[in-house]
Amino acid sequence: TENRPLEGVRIMVTAGPTREPVDPVRYITNHSSGKMGYAIAKQAQLLGAEVILISGPTHLETPNGVKRIDIVTTSDMLEAVQANMAVDVIIKAAAPSDYKPMQYQNQKIKKGSESIDMKLVKNPDILKSIVPLVKDQIVVGFAAETQNVEGYAMQKLQEKKLDFIVANDVTAEGAGFDKDTNIVTIFEANGTKSSYECLRKDVVAGIILDKVIEYLKKQQTI
Ligand code: PMT
Repeated sequence: TENRPLEGVRIMVTAGPTREPVDPVRYITNHSSGKMGYAIAKQAQLLGAEVILISGPTHLETPNGVKRIDIVTTSDMLEAVQANMAVDVIIKAAAPSDYKPMQYQNQKIKKGSESIDMKLVKNPDILKSIVPLVKDQIVVGFAAETQNVEGYAMQKLQEKKLDFIVANDVTAEGAGFDKDTNIVTIFEANGTKSSYECLRKDVVAGIILDKVIEYLKKQQTI
């Protein structure tokens, strides 16, 4: 157990963007590459965990020994997350689309008028939807912000009833979407705040998993 502290622990990781189809040839998405979530899945597996990776569309290879479930939309991700709640730890590094087109157009939208309107409707919030389903799972969220990082992160920590949240300012150099590095601050439900310098995403993954190990030990799961 020295090198494999997560032996026997089941971890669900979500990663990547979601895609919301507009018509048969178009979709709404964001810049998530999946790198952050895949790095966590890989490190968790190396530390001995049984890992389920729920992934939006990415160009990344599945880490060795990880069970990957591919999804496309936020609704698909919600369904996959709810179907895999029998785990000890849930880490939500994915960037699910918060909105989707109100009406999917069955045929390609043809070019014509100078401007067209598209109405968007809210997608479900996956983390909020699982609040009533959480028993003793450790739940870790991310907060991707462009301003007021601490304020918004604390709000998400409380609303989504997380054990801790990993905040990243996605406009900072060397942080956020599609980079190999990230700059994070971890806010814990107990009020602790830890800030880190710019580090490779696999190192950030290790820091997050160390914190998870600390919580699992406190719970006497390991
Ligand atoms: O994938 P990379 O290119 O490596 O980029 C990494 C990252 C920037 C995507 C990652 O570090 C990150 O910040 N992920 C969270 C992105 C996000 O959706 O943040 P948010 O602040 O909008 O959401 C807060 C939390 O709620 C997140 O844990 C998110 O997974 C979750 N969420 C969001 C929307 C939604 N409908 N349901 C959710 O559960």
